[in-house]
Amino acid sequence: MKLGIIMDPINEIDIKKDSSFAMLLAAQKRGWSIHYMESDDLYMDNEIPKARMQFLEVKENPKKWFKLDKEYIDEISSLDVILMRKDPPFNLEYIYSTYILEHAQKLGVYVVNNPESLRTVNEKFFITYFPACIPPTIVSKNIKFLFEFIQKQNDVIIKPLDSMGGAGIHHIKKTNKDIKAVLKLITKNGNECVMGQKFIPEISLGDKRILLIDGKPIPYALARIPSPINQKGNLVQGATAKGIGLTERDNFICNIVGPELKKMGLTFVGIDIIGDYLTEINVTSPTCIKELDNIYNIKIADKLMNVIEKKTKEII
Ligand SMILES: Nc1ncnc2c1ncn2[C@@H]1O[C@H](COP(=O)(O)OP(=O)(O)O)[C@@H](O)[C@H]1O
Ligand SMILES: [Mg+2]
Repeated sequence: MKLGIIMDPINEIDIKKDSSFAMLLAAQKRGWSIHYMESDDLYMDNEIPKARMQFLEVKENPKKWFKLDKEYIDEISSLDVILMRKDPPFNLEYIYSTYILEHAQKLGVYVVNNPESLRTVNEKFFITYFPACIPPTIVSKNIKFLFEFIQKQNDVIIKPLDSMGGAGIHHIKKTNKDIKAVLKLITKNGNECVMGQKFIPEISLGDKRILLIDGKPIPYALARIPSPINQKGNLVQGATAKGIGLTERDNFICNIVGPELKKMGLTFVGIDIIGDYLTEINVTSPTCIKELDNIYNIKIADKLMNVIEKKTKEII
């Protein structure tokens, strides 16, 4: 098997935490060859998707974790599978990459995740397709609508639709004095849509990450418990991680969301649940494999490679 990966520069990753690295180790262990790309390596030559690639070897050595061979150019269809693991920003450049990957997919390459669905799914907005799972939510750029939502819900989180890692999160209560001024700032004067959501107090128990492979949940979640300094359940914001089994409600949510993800070719997804509510569906480059593996020794990347192997055989 020939596996291509599109990722951010491999020399900058932290191998203790990096889910893409865990995937590469699992693929290499199976004897698959790894072909490394960054997003500017992809291009179209008329109708043919091509890329500049490098053979990559990985090792679990914190001092020297990768070895890249010399660059070569080939048609992307020479690969069996491609992992699109580039981190957001989800911008036009990201979308152009999905166009090229869609060409590769049409030529028989199995692309994780499905390029068309990467374009369709906004990681925040997509929760609105699962009304039984979500807290009271508004998406709008209209300051009046957002203001009224805060008056009705009392205690609200306002967040941008295109950020990650806890960036741009605002906690606003009905009693705040300067609500309209803050809303003006966040919406860039009513020009940019944001998501408003009822504040879920159970965030103090953690923002739970559940990984789903081909629509099926790994049966343990990673609860990211906010540090006392801020209320953000993001590891990059100082949250601490704890393993936790899935609750009945978690399974209910997975049973609703999972089959849709599978249908859309979203093979590797991380959903976030706070208290009883689905708050985010991460499709671009979900993480937390390493953290869950370390606690439960469940070899998540290996499970993913099993599915990939099966799917590529279906394509052939
Ligand atoms: N509805 C909510 N209730 C309480 N806290 C929230 C809510 N939505 C987001 N947060 C807080 O903001 C953090 C980041 O929000 P999230 O929607 O996961 O965006 P991202 O992780 O992409 O920045 C969460 O971990 C949590 O601490
Ligand atoms: Mg999050």
